[in-house]
Amino acid sequence: MEAHSRAASVSSFELKVHVERVAEATPKIHAALARLLPQLNSGLELPDMVRLQRLIADPAVTLLIARDGDEIVGTTTVIVYTTPFWIKARLDEVVVDDSARGRGVGEALVKAALDVGREKGAQVAELQSGRGPAREAAHRLYDRLGFRIRESDVMRILL
Ligand SMILES: CC(C)(COP(=O)(O)OP(=O)(O)OC[C@H]1O[C@@H](n2cnc3c(N)ncnc32)[C@H](O)[C@@H]1OP(=O)(O)O)[C@@H](O)C(=O)NCCC(=O)NCCS
Repeated sequence: MEAHSRAASVSSFELKVHVERVAEATPKIHAALARLLPQLNSGLELPDMVRLQRLIADPAVTLLIARDGDEIVGTTTVIVYTTPFWIKARLDEVVVDDSARGRGVGEALVKAALDVGREKGAQVAELQSGRGPAREAAHRLYDRLGFRIRESDVMRILL
């Protein structure tokens, strides 16, 4: 695994969180995602090892994890892609373990994802977040980091 970013130092908790880019699909990463992703959405199927390998092998995708010592306490995924108008970074699946929240881990992950986007030439970063009480902390985090809600509709069709 390649060390990515600066440690996000969080003085009030004396916690040092390191955000890393995942370079290899390992059982440890798989187990961490199986613990973290249901805390974001318990209704979706967890990725198996084949999906995890595919994710990591995709050159557009960067899977990030936040590590507190040996423990993986959060994750996000950033995808950088090109459209006729933009090079965009899309942040997906931002989640921090319930036991590690409120210490700056989410902020460190999102900042690291933005760094990945910038490094890969992205001009803009976007994400989609649900509405309601379950996403209030997330909305505060995104707002604090400079994201603004765009008045547009997300449309989806299952393929
Ligand atoms: C949203 C989420 C990722 C935030 O993660 P987090 O690690 O708690 O985020 P942070 O610690 O950076 O920020 C959370 C709060 O802690 C505060 N905080 C951060 N570092 C702190 C520190 N050292 N001391 C005290 N407070 C601190 C922040 O100011 C923030 O306060 P707020 O809730 O009043 O806005 C997390 O709540 C989560 O996983 N939620 C469920 C999944 C989810 O909603 N994901 C987003 C999908 S769009």
